[in-house]
Amino acid sequence: MVVKRRAGAGCLDGMTRTDLGPAAVRLRRVTRHYDSGFGSGSGGVTALDDVSLSFPAGSFTAVMGPSGSGKSTLLQCAAALDRPTSGSVSIGGTPLEGLSQTRLTRLRRERIGFVFQSFNLLPSLTAAQNVALPLRLAGRAPARAEIRQALGRVGLAERAGHRPGELSGGQQQRVALARALITRPQVLFGDEPTGALDSATSRDVLRLLRELVDVEGQTVVMVTHDPVAASYADRVVFLVDGRVSGELQEPTAEQVSARMTRLETVPC
Ligand SMILES: Nc1ncnc2c1ncn2[C@@H]1O[C@H](COP(=O)(O)OP(=O)(O)OP(=O)(O)O)[C@@H](O)[C@H]1O
Ligand SMILES: [Mg+2]
Repeated sequence: MVVKRRAGAGCLDGMTRTDLGPAAVRLRRVTRHYDSGFGSGSGGVTALDDVSLSFPAGSFTAVMGPSGSGKSTLLQCAAALDRPTSGSVSIGGTPLEGLSQTRLTRLRRERIGFVFQSFNLLPSLTAAQNVALPLRLAGRAPARAEIRQALGRVGLAERAGHRPGELSGGQQQRVALARALITRPQVLFGDEPTGALDSATSRDVLRLLRELVDVEGQTVVMVTHDPVAASYADRVVFLVDGRVSGELQEPTAEQVSARMTRLETVPC
């Protein structure tokens, strides 16, 4: 049973509804085209096609869609890891276009947290050292109490001295979450963060994400292929062929499953 706080309602295009809280991230008419690499004329791929979306502060959004529908590209554009070919993205009200590389790097470091399916921890560092990394990269020497508190938030205070190889998959993903959250980012993005975990361990991570939203007002945007994972979100956005094809509010796993089955069987 997933207990959800009523978060700020989502909106499909970010511009047709006005009763929303402030957007943590807003995409307006974002297109991302990849060249084929074989010179002009061979077309390339339009991974995102005129996508407008907003992610309200303090909400939990899941992004779903068939393989190749543009989910990772959407996350990377929204997290300032990639630049759209056209359209605009703003994070916490700051438009990204026109920002220098230096300012973009600082914005990413200070306002964005990102976790991946493959936890991406450094194997030779302890959990505490992995969590401290973003602060060290920003030129800060983190206090031991700060790291301990970050690990405590994900229930791993007792594992600070363990290396990734000495932790389970779920524990490693929680270390990755603590590392992503240590800078207190405005938005936490996850690209299939539970994709490599068994279902019981996934639930732990999803409950933690839900709690971060409900208790701390964290904004979370998560790509997933799993309808049960999506049911932890306040809203699910569906992508097909790089376009938003619809969304569900307060989704149940059954509703998400039914929608996904339709998307995967009915050609759009
Ligand atoms: N760097 C790239 N260069 C060229 N094409 C790319 C690149 N990255 C993604 N694409 C293409 O863009 C489309 C969308 O890819 P994306 O990775 O966003 O899909 P996805 O929905 O995350 O898929 P999956 O569920 O398999 O992870 C795909 O056709 C993909 O081949
Ligand atoms: Mg992907």
